[in-house]
Amino acid sequence: MTIIIDGKQLAKDIKVELAEQVAEIKTAGSKIPHLAAVLIGDNAASESYVRNKVRSCEQVGFNSTLIRHDASISEDALLDIVDDLNKDEDIDGFIVQLPLPDHIDEQKITLAIDPRKDVDGFHPMNFGRMAQGLPSYLPATPYGILQMLERYGIETSGKHCVVIGRSNIVGTPMSILLSRKAKVGNCTVTLAHSRTKDLKAETLRADIIIAAIGRANFVTADMVKDGAVVIDVGINRVDDASKKRGYRLVGDVDFEAVLLKASHITPVPGGVGPMTVTSLMMNTLKASKREIFG
Ligand code: GUN
Repeated sequence: MTIIIDGKQLAKDIKVELAEQVAEIKTAGSKIPHLAAVLIGDNAASESYVRNKVRSCEQVGFNSTLIRHDASISEDALLDIVDDLNKDEDIDGFIVQLPLPDHIDEQKITLAIDPRKDVDGFHPMNFGRMAQGLPSYLPATPYGILQMLERYGIETSGKHCVVIGRSNIVGTPMSILLSRKAKVGNCTVTLAHSRTKDLKAETLRADIIIAAIGRANFVTADMVKDGAVVIDVGINRVDDASKKRGYRLVGDVDFEAVLLKASHITPVPGGVGPMTVTSLMMNTLKASKREIFG
């Protein structure tokens, strides 16, 4: 029987645990964790992600601040906002939602964020610390996947993991984290990407597949070994006239077919997605407790 990993439930459980910790913080009279989110423009997906982040703050009892500007904001003005947030003592951590408008250099904005408040874990200081196994804010999606593997008791040590996709946000950090000497880690990792010669040969050797390429139903059943753990990071819109909004969301994995082969699989929606927001909440709590940088 294939186990469908219930990210939605797991995220709920983690939020309950976080809310308990916030209740203790309140009882002790300590500072309530405070996350700020900066949203530029009106990208529909970004709006929904940020709404979710703010709602999750409310659910766990954090304070949150949403700063919105239209897409015409200058790079300098956004850098000023980042600088203000860096200096604001009440803000423990903040994120600048990506993507940003074309005239703004995302790298420049990321570098301007104080690493101590970089709860996205995107600053090279956090990325480098992660790569060296030092305390750091882990990027939300890989962190959420580690939580899933751990809480479902999935053995990683000595396993062969194939990560498909080498983005800075998911594939590359995931490959680093799973190869580290850590409680969840110790895998032999292959990082596959668009230039990989025979992807099927690679994935067929995998005990764990992490699909993060952003292409609907890309991983098919013939690419998966019997008993493999399949983690689907994709959130792709495909046209569907039967839906009111005209589309439905599907992952990077052909779920129905791969379900018959995998030992564990994550659905889309309801798999990795909900875990990313809880990771951000966990990082914000760490920021408020000064756990990473002291
Ligand atoms: N855009 C897509 N994912 C993310 C994320 O995790 N953080 C930020 N800031 N922007 C994103």
